Amino acid sequence: MSRNTVAKINLAAIKHNYLYAKSCVPYAQAVAIVKANAYGHGSAEVAKYLDDTVDLFGVACIEEALEIRQAGVKSPILLLEGVFEFDEIEVANNNNFFICVTSEEGLKWILSVSPQEPLTLFLKYDSGMGRLGFQDDTLLDAFEKLSSSNNIKEIVLMTHFACADEVTSLVTDKQMHKIDSFYKSLKSYNNKTKLSISNSAGVLTKVCQSQDFIRPGIMLYGTSPVDTNQHDIHLLTAMTVTAPIISIKKYTEGDSIGYGGTFICPKDMTVGVVAFGYGDGYPRHAITGTPVYLNGLITHIVGRVSMDMLTIDLTHIPNTNINDRVELFGENVSINDVARCADTISYEIYTKITKRVYREYLY
Ligand SMILES: Cc1ncc(COP(=O)(O)O)c(C=O)c1O
Repeated sequence: MSRNTVAKINLAAIKHNYLYAKSCVPYAQAVAIVKANAYGHGSAEVAKYLDDTVDLFGVACIEEALEIRQAGVKSPILLLEGVFEFDEIEVANNNNFFICVTSEEGLKWILSVSPQEPLTLFLKYDSGMGRLGFQDDTLLDAFEKLSSSNNIKEIVLMTHFACADEVTSLVTDKQMHKIDSFYKSLKSYNNKTKLSISNSAGVLTKVCQSQDFIRPGIMLYGTSPVDTNQHDIHLLTAMTVTAPIISIKKYTEGDSIGYGGTFICPKDMTVGVVAFGYGDGYPRHAITGTPVYLNGLITHIVGRVSMDMLTIDLTHIPNTNINDRVELFGENVSINDVARCADTISYEIYTKITKRVYREYLY
């Protein structure tokens, strides 16, 4: 590993965060969301490590579910986007994957199969997200059809928040109001119906304490999506990304740094080159001033991020040497701060860390 760019992943921190999520909504089971390669943390490694702890896992599609099943994971796995083709239903049933029914077509497919064992299904309600799921005018009909089928053992009404990360938004209240009234009417029809509402933001802000399954994703990895920082304090950072300094040079006032010459030294400066760029997944749009951590101090990026390198201000860290390690984000630099400087969100940064960054697991 000559280039030596490393994402250190603390699996014990992920387990801690999962258990913390469960403690926020004490009577709920928790679906550990490990889609998109466990938000870049490595879905097979994460799921194997959590397998004895979690109630079930959640992924986007059958390929992601099969990957962790083939890695030896035994827990049930929820397909959050349902099945994309009819034939996937049989694969799902044979592998203890729970299907989410999100559309009329998926409903027709489910009602046309005769599984050996009755199925547990999640039925998606579009209560205000404006994405997948049945809307107010079709949900009841879908629910009644599933309820009256002998092939269905359990139905979990599932919905997803659009704005739970914005604590002052009224959208969440509106969604909760709709879910409450629909759930009550479904319950009167079939009182075994269960409920799954909260993503990480919903869990952390404790929007709904009465549900059967929460679905925490980003918080498992130690990051709160909520726009007030107070929700971070119980979470442990799972991923710390570091890379070595490969060049240190002095520049004089007026010299320019990097592509486009966008950064002009305002004074005499020392600039270090770090072996990490957008080819490793660092956001190219990170601005001059984006924080990094080195030798116990915070400094920042200067100039544009290149494919394989970025440049940082070392003027006030004079004892820096080649191969000293720079933290791009993790234990000392909040990924949310980096995301803000790059006009993005932590989710995008995590999921874009590329293959050439070596994943080192701590247990
Ligand atoms: C349906 C569903 N549930 C839960 C999650 C987890 O969300 P978060 O990572 O914000 O906790 C997602 C992620 O997008 C999702 O699509």
